[in-house]
Formats: sequence, C-alpha cells, structure tokens
Amino acid sequence: MKKALAAFTVAFSACLASGVSAQSLTVGFSQIGSESGWRAAETTVTKQEAEKRGIDLKFADAQQKQENQIKAIRGFIAQGVDAILVAPVVATGWESVLQEAKEEEIPVILLDRQIEASDDLYLTAVTSDQVHEGKVAGDWLVKDIGDKPCNVVELQGTTGSSPAINRKKGFEEALASHDNIKITRSQTGDFTRTKGKEVMESFIKAEGGGQDICAVYAHNDDMAVGAIQAIKEAGLKPGSDIKIVSIDAVPDIFKAMAEGEANATVELTPNMAGPAFDVLEAYLKDKTEPPKWIQTESKLYTAADDPMAVYEAKKDLGY
Ligand code: AHR
Repeated sequence: MKKALAAFTVAFSACLASGVSAQSLTVGFSQIGSESGWRAAETTVTKQEAEKRGIDLKFADAQQKQENQIKAIRGFIAQGVDAILVAPVVATGWESVLQEAKEEEIPVILLDRQIEASDDLYLTAVTSDQVHEGKVAGDWLVKDIGDKPCNVVELQGTTGSSPAINRKKGFEEALASHDNIKITRSQTGDFTRTKGKEVMESFIKAEGGGQDICAVYAHNDDMAVGAIQAIKEAGLKPGSDIKIVSIDAVPDIFKAMAEGEANATVELTPNMAGPAFDVLEAYLKDKTEPPKWIQTESKLYTAADDPMAVYEAKKDLGY
C-alpha cells in the first residue's frame, strides 16, 4: 500500500521546486498522554512546529498505555501517513509494530524516550542522555551535601520507561563512591504530581515523620512539586530540612526554587519535534540519513540562577 517513499519523494521534490515547501506532509504523532507539565509542553510545541512547517499532524493520545500507542501506529500505517513520531511510554515491546511501519517504508522517529530494539526499526531518536541527567542531579547532591550523612528518597518515573531506568542509573553512578549518601527508599510516582505526593507521604511516615530524610530525588519536577506539598503538610521545610533535586525544568519548579522550596533541576527541552522535522524533511527530500541519536542538552539550574526570571521566561511556552 504505502511503498510510497519513492513516489512521495518525487511529489515532495516537485513541491520544493515549485516553492510550495512541505505542505503535503502528513505525520502521525503517538503521544504518551498528559502526565506532566513537561509532557503538555512537548505536545504544544510539536503541534506548533508542525503548523509552522505546514505539516498535517495527526495526533493520538495514548493515555499512558502502550497498547493504545501500538493501535495508533497501526492506524497511521493504514492511513498511509508520510512519517510517524512516537514518544514510547515503555522501552520494550515495539519490534512488531515498527517492523510493520518499516515494511510500508514509513519512517518512524522516536521522541524523548528510547527503546530496547534494533535501531534499524526507526530513522532516529531525538532524546536527552537520560543517564547523564541522573548523573548531573546526583553530582549536584554530592557537592551540596559534602561529607554529611544523607538519606535520600527517590521518586521514580513510569516503571519500564527509559527515563525511569536511566535516570535511576545515572544518579546511582554519581553516588557510588560517596558512602555517606544512601538511597533508603525508591518507588514509582508515575511522573505525576498526585502520585508523587502520595508516595512521599508514605516515605515520610516510614522514615520517622520525615526527620530521617535528607533529600528527595524525583525523576521529574511534577513529582517533586507533589513531594514538596507532602513535606509542607508534615510540618517540614522543603528546600532546607529536605533538599529537592529533580529533572525537567518546568516553570513551577522555578517558582518553588524562588520560594526556597526546591534546590536544583536538570533541564529537558520540550522541543524534540523541531530537530525531528528537520531531519525528516531532509530524509524525505533526498534520503539524507540522520544520525541514529540526536541528543538534546541537559543543563543544571539551581537557586543561584535567578529562578523567578527563568519562571517568567518559561511560563508562556506551553507548559
Ligand atoms: O520522557 C520524558 C519524561 O516524561 C519527562 O521528564 C517527564 O516529565 C515526562 O512525563
């Protein structure tokens, strides 16, 4: 049905030659859901990037379920889209559906999460180095704590997702040669505020009313914001009694930082679609093969970085 890459290339070239740009491109986007402020921003930015380029974006919200993503991808294949973007909720179980897309010569680009499968099955992956993100967070904590003893509680992302696996790994690597800092509890908070708060409440109960906790490491800012709420309700001060380090750099964490209630975050850009569409357009034009991994930056922000100014600069960017 869609052995159409060659045909499309001709049409696409004709389009470019006539100065019409890539208006005829139709791209399916299987998004995970809307679990976090970062995810909402990624959705907004992807839609904006598509509109800017005249791409017809078919959007499907998987409500956190891999089976819904697989169904959506099959639907995109049946519609004969020109390409597929997918933010894979978990790292495993993608081989069959990606093979189906490959057989129909529909390029697939992974956004923000990696998968455990042969890289022949997709054109490229636009993601951060998630192990590095965890390491940056851990290195910050190690430096901030120095030689003092410190019990850390960890709020993990969605079980089986690449950021949950890799951010844990990177953080543990940073702590490996610092015996004074120990992860005493670690549980998933599903990347959401509600679950982050709930799990933090249970950690506080289990750890002497919170007195025995020195720091929270949350795999995203939304869970950190939930944890901050739980800490305050327990009568403790987040940011000082219990240090808070997390990942994403969404506006709300900068507000918390400005109020002295959070300490550090590692930035993840929500603009994965910009680089994805750039390489896709080049590929469809003349088969320019992109690298298999397009790595985005991971910048550390702390309370020393004028958090209120960062909050103001970010708050209207789709978060
Ligand atoms: O895959 C990226 C992660 O997914 C973000 O850090 C988190 O907020 C989101 O839900």
